[in-house]
Amino acid sequence: MSFFNDLIVMAVQAMPKSVVGFFSKKYIAGETLADAVQVVKNFNKRGILATMDVLGESVKNKQEALDAKCKGLEVLNAIYENKLNANLSVKLTQLGLLLDEEFCYQNVEELVSRAKEINNFVRVDMEDAPTTDATFKIVKRLRQNYSNIGIVVQAYLKRTYDDIIVNSAVINNYRLCKGIYNESPTIAYKDKQQIRDNYIKVLDYMLKNGIYVGIATHDEYLIKKAYQMIKDLGISKDKIEFQMLLGVREDLRNKINNDGYKIRIYTPFGKDWYPYSIRRLKENPQMAGHIFRALFRFKK
Ligand code: FDA
Repeated sequence: MSFFNDLIVMAVQAMPKSVVGFFSKKYIAGETLADAVQVVKNFNKRGILATMDVLGESVKNKQEALDAKCKGLEVLNAIYENKLNANLSVKLTQLGLLLDEEFCYQNVEELVSRAKEINNFVRVDMEDAPTTDATFKIVKRLRQNYSNIGIVVQAYLKRTYDDIIVNSAVINNYRLCKGIYNESPTIAYKDKQQIRDNYIKVLDYMLKNGIYVGIATHDEYLIKKAYQMIKDLGISKDKIEFQMLLGVREDLRNKINNDGYKIRIYTPFGKDWYPYSIRRLKENPQMAGHIFRALFRFKK
């Protein structure tokens, strides 16, 4: 199974950029802020919330990080001006984390400060494991002065349960996802059920300890478990939200919305769509079929 997955990963990575763009259109709101605003307006009309993300990561110089910060400020202003029910997601490597940690901190602070002025919120995505400590450090430092910032944690990391226990006095707002980066088995669970079990363990701790959590998954098994836990613990529907990615499991998204839960859609946009799209295609179970059919056509 893992060999087959590796083959799909290799095939996706070998695709020409135009083919990646064709298959990943549904995951991206468009190249411009105006495109993303329109997508979010349509969600809001149906009672669905959004978190907006300017695509990009691992910038190579400070100017690129400053540009990313400016784009983040533009998103916050657009949310305010268009009265969108949305917040902002950011990646710290896009704001300069790998260049200069203090410089990155200043960039995030500017975004969080602007978000505070307009009564909004910034969610810091979690990237690969070498950035986990620095991401916690920056978010914890900001939480000393701002309550409108939260972090993401990944259920595949063995450290996550302890991270929540250690940090929950300072950070009480999380997005919980499985995790997307290819981490070593020494630090990460690799088995699907082990990741699910850790997800449930972390979610259970969060729900029992009054931590606000964005339950970010499209896995029906986890969503059913979450429904049951919320019911059994008598958690009020405004203390949690579900989160999904744009273009993934829209049927399930609509069901959660109809069931009266808050549901927030991660809505990425921008010109730097390639790395994000590759990650999404690797996770798309239909990719294997597309690749197989393409190979078959090629052979004929
Ligand atoms: P799983 O991958 O098992 O998918 C469950 C089902 O969903 C699949 O069987 C399939 O039906 C459908 N599905 C999933 N992905 C699909 C795709 N691309 N195309 C079509 N169908 C698909 N990760 C991270 O490391 N750091 C982060 O900050 C974030 N942020 C984030 C925000 C939000 C709102 C979400 C929903 C997810 C993230 N992630 C993330 C990604 C996350 O870690 C994970 O990689 C994906 O959500 C896929 O995991 P699932 O829990 O959906 O399960």
